[in-house]
Amino acid sequence: MSARQDTGRDGGRTGRPTLAVVGATGAVGSVMLQILSQHADVWGDIRLIASPRSAGRKLAVRGEEVEVVALSEEAFDGVDVAMFDVPDEVAAQWAPLAAAKGAVVVDNSGAFRMDPDVPLVVPEVNPHAVRMRPRGIVANPNCTTLSMIVALGALHAEFGLRELVVSSYQAVSGAGRDGVDTLRRQLSLVAGTELGTHPGDVRRAVGDDTGPFPEPVALNVVPWAGSLREDGWSSEEMKVRDESRKILGLPNLPVAVTCVRVPVVTTHSLTVHARFEGEVSVQGAREILATAPGVVLFDNPAAGEFPTPADAVGTDPTWVGRVRRALDDPTALELFVCGDNLRKGAALNTAQIAELVAAEFG
Ligand SMILES: NC(=O)c1ccc[n+]([C@@H]2O[C@H](COP(=O)([O-])OP(=O)(O)OC[C@H]3O[C@@H](n4cnc5c(N)ncnc54)[C@H](OP(=O)(O)O)[C@@H]3O)[C@@H](O)[C@H]2O)c1
Repeated sequence: MSARQDTGRDGGRTGRPTLAVVGATGAVGSVMLQILSQHADVWGDIRLIASPRSAGRKLAVRGEEVEVVALSEEAFDGVDVAMFDVPDEVAAQWAPLAAAKGAVVVDNSGAFRMDPDVPLVVPEVNPHAVRMRPRGIVANPNCTTLSMIVALGALHAEFGLRELVVSSYQAVSGAGRDGVDTLRRQLSLVAGTELGTHPGDVRRAVGDDTGPFPEPVALNVVPWAGSLREDGWSSEEMKVRDESRKILGLPNLPVAVTCVRVPVVTTHSLTVHARFEGEVSVQGAREILATAPGVVLFDNPAAGEFPTPADAVGTDPTWVGRVRRALDDPTALELFVCGDNLRKGAALNTAQIAELVAAEFG
């Protein structure tokens, strides 16, 4: 396949693939525009697409103001690669249409991740999978899975993963702009009060509108993310299990996971108990994590050094700390992991996949 000609506004970009960012106005889309402005520029035209509500708005990308156009079939005319950062149902309807018009789709939603004909790609772990895309669609994993999988992939390559037990501490931006707006509104209602000392006092202060969350999230911890699945599991928990298995190529990996929402704006954290084929040493694990691409080992508890969302937010790597061997199992490690859910957890990984596809053009 060769790149279509762009409109030639900038001569240097002529002949490079044309990119569409669908959902450019959203939480993920906004970070995507920053990343496209910061990374080496491999694109010709960049077309920004959102709902009709946003048509005509101007957004900055690569230092230029670009007008947002409404999602339509014509919007994909001449597009080589289309990133989808929109709700599942919008991606489910429109990604196949974009692919039918000749674009390679990189989809950030949950609509296609478990489709056997759609690869689920993390460039540091399974980059080869990007070329096997019979539907013309490549899926980007869920942000919670992505926040840990680069570190786990590196450990798996050396030690052979046999079991995962995970708890998440998920930021509100994982629920999009609405999640962030909800936390900020609730924080303004509880700031400077003595709330948090009596049952229900926070709930009464923030009111019935808890946004995309089932409970108040300010001054609270909510053991729920996503929608209800069988036997009391949440959709987010099922995604972590199913997607980890698919990315690592371990279809029978035992995975136990509990997803929890915390009052953090952006950056998911996870505690991970990972059991491997044989005995593991902390020293060996530290050496792997210290040299793995996309991972930063930040682990010196004696000096009070371990990753936290407040420091990891806005950065690209997966941050790993609190590396210990399990007290009662010499084959298992305990880790604490932080990753920006809007960067590596969404926009950055999508951009990396799209850049792998862009390298096929030319
Ligand atoms: N937030 C995360 O941490 C995260 C991580 C990984 C994956 N994801 C996935 O990425 C996708 C986007 O999430 P988000 O958090 O960025 O959501 P968001 O902040 O709610 O933004 C949604 C985007 O989709 C657009 N959109 C909504 N309905 C549309 C329609 N009918 N036609 C065209 N465009 C439409 C919106 O455009 P308007 O502004 O015009 O309404 C907006 O640009 C979702 O599938 C989400 O599951 C999110």
